[in-house]
Amino acid sequence: MEYRRLGDSELRVSVVGLGTLALGGRSYRAVSEEMALATVQRTVDLGINFIDTSDNYGFGRAEVLIGQAIRGRRDDVLIATKGGTPWDKEGRTAIDCSAAAITEGVDASLRRLGTDWIDLYQIHVPDPETPYEETVGALERLKEAGKIRYAGLSNFWVEELDAWLAADGVVSNQMPYNFLHRDIEAELLPYCRQRSVGVIAYTPLLMGVFAGRISPETVFAEGDHRASYPQFQGRPLRDSLALVARLQSLAADTGLTMAQLALSWVVSRPGITCAIPGATSPEQVEENAVAGERSLAADLMERIDRLLADTQVETPRTIPMKVVEIKEPAGRRLGIMEIGLKVPVPSDTRAGDVVEMDIVTGQVSEWVGEAN
Ligand SMILES: NC(=O)c1ccc[n+]([C@@H]2O[C@H](COP(=O)([O-])OP(=O)(O)OC[C@H]3O[C@@H](n4cnc5c(N)ncnc54)[C@H](OP(=O)(O)O)[C@@H]3O)[C@@H](O)[C@H]2O)c1
Repeated sequence: MEYRRLGDSELRVSVVGLGTLALGGRSYRAVSEEMALATVQRTVDLGINFIDTSDNYGFGRAEVLIGQAIRGRRDDVLIATKGGTPWDKEGRTAIDCSAAAITEGVDASLRRLGTDWIDLYQIHVPDPETPYEETVGALERLKEAGKIRYAGLSNFWVEELDAWLAADGVVSNQMPYNFLHRDIEAELLPYCRQRSVGVIAYTPLLMGVFAGRISPETVFAEGDHRASYPQFQGRPLRDSLALVARLQSLAADTGLTMAQLALSWVVSRPGITCAIPGATSPEQVEENAVAGERSLAADLMERIDRLLADTQVETPRTIPMKVVEIKEPAGRRLGIMEIGLKVPVPSDTRAGDVVEMDIVTGQVSEWVGEAN
């Protein structure tokens, strides 16, 4: 397994980590406790030392399972969790990066993880209502108390990252990146390289598409968020699978599986520090780990690039989302989405409207439904 330094921190992370959104159990199909524990344990056995989670994956379930799985092996693992996303009794998530919410969030994550420290504490999404200086101050105090070693960010595009860096340094930023979601290449990746910010690639397998085992016949379990994404239906799915078939023949030439090719490609791209594929079984972890041992030759990277450039794939990525509240702090018009996100919305957007939200950038593009 190859290890790399994360930003300018002292953390040396495996280039292939483990993502645990699916193990939380509320976004993908349910994974049994036994299977989740076996998945995390196999991860550590294989030398994958970087485990990504969040306080709100399964409303704490993922953190609890990770804590159980690594008991007695804490020093073999770097735990990266996220916060600023508290939830209420009804299961509604909010975005809150106030000092109080972050401080309470870290204590709750430590309890669930059964550890005294978190190696990387990431702000899950920007909170446009809390001044970054307030969040930075809370994170500094948590570092001084030894509760977190480093702070990182997630879903910060250049403008927000630039504003954050004006308040404090940060070691990493976690962003979506795979064969079809390459938005970060234009500005964010060069910016992060220039500012020594490590980049952690999430959804590197496009939620399983680039693992090569999804077909038009695949039926997603109830509650699996993929069932409602246009990317997993009709023409976009057929186009993506045609791309997978072409990539698969390149993978076969090099003795890699589709998932291994996809992950090796992601971690071979300039500026990417590591990828955190989700996995729901020890077998998936075993397959994915190989990608951390096989760097792709320059000529293969070029062949992949040519293939991607030559293949047209329809990639719809907006989903309808209800705006539950409008706020106007400091003259900005923010929509509070039903999933808790706070994003800038057009001036005519009202509470109750349904808008189209891009699942990669979080941007709201257009109004699609009547206010109720
Ligand atoms: N910062 C953020 O806002 C954010 C957002 C999303 C995700 N993340 C993080 O990034 C991680 C990765 O994203 P993700 O899990 O959503 O998507 P992903 O890594 O692109 O895909 C994960 C899914 O691919 C399938 N898979 C993985 N390895 C496989 C293999 N070898 N063979 C066959 N299928 C395989 C599994 O699907 P099945 O369920 O069908 O087995 C798994 O649940 C998350 O777990 C989470 O830690 C962060």
